[in-house]
Amino acid sequence: MQDWMVIYMLKAIILDLDGVVTDTAKFHYIAWKQLAQELGIEFDEVFNERLKGVSRMDSLDLILEHGDKKHAYTLEEKMILAETKNREYRKLLNSMTSMDILPGIPGFLMELRTASIKIALASISKNADYIVKHLNLEDYFDYIANANEIKRTKPFPDIFIKCAEKLVVRPEECIGIEDAKAGVQAIKAANMKAIGIGTVDQMKNADLILDSTVLLSLDLIKDTFNM
Ligand code: BG6
Ligand code: MG
Repeated sequence: MQDWMVIYMLKAIILDLDGVVTDTAKFHYIAWKQLAQELGIEFDEVFNERLKGVSRMDSLDLILEHGDKKHAYTLEEKMILAETKNREYRKLLNSMTSMDILPGIPGFLMELRTASIKIALASISKNADYIVKHLNLEDYFDYIANANEIKRTKPFPDIFIKCAEKLVVRPEECIGIEDAKAGVQAIKAANMKAIGIGTVDQMKNADLILDSTVLLSLDLIKDTFNM
């Protein structure tokens, strides 16, 4: 039988964290901006958009490049700078509570639980566990990927494939949810269906585009993907 003739059952939903479950971009922005100012680099919210879904060290490289300081620091110095930013960022995360979960997400997770659909978190953030604890969502996730164990970051599919393996499901039985272009690319490269949260322009490679997490529902997913 041809693969396209197979109808896969939906067994797992794999969510990105930043921009899907909660909005940490504002905290990243404050912490990076503070560090950048200390280094004499200015950047605004438009530039900050480019840091979404990008790893900590890659974000620092982009900021340094933006300030014409690409080659001004050794790797060791850059690691200290990234750690300084992370300390500030963690301080800001401390104020987070379940009130910071994006609209629609608690109900959606509950719906998945009731339907016995597995749930994983595919975030490249090394603070993912910490954030999930602050949001009081630990009990919802069957697996939370550890960014330290993932060799290639998004847009490579590694983190989504790891989640499917840990949940013991096939990639075709999973749907990934992302808000960053590189994240949607990673889901598609993992052979999963992708839901993009954002504008049509940003999310054009996603199979289903929603402009808000409030629209997420199991019925919509089943109807859209015929799973
Ligand atoms: C992503 C964010 O989820 O995690 C990026 O969108 C961030 O902005 C990246 O740089 C890494 O996060 P952390 O918490 O490991 O510094
Ligand atoms: Mg994201």
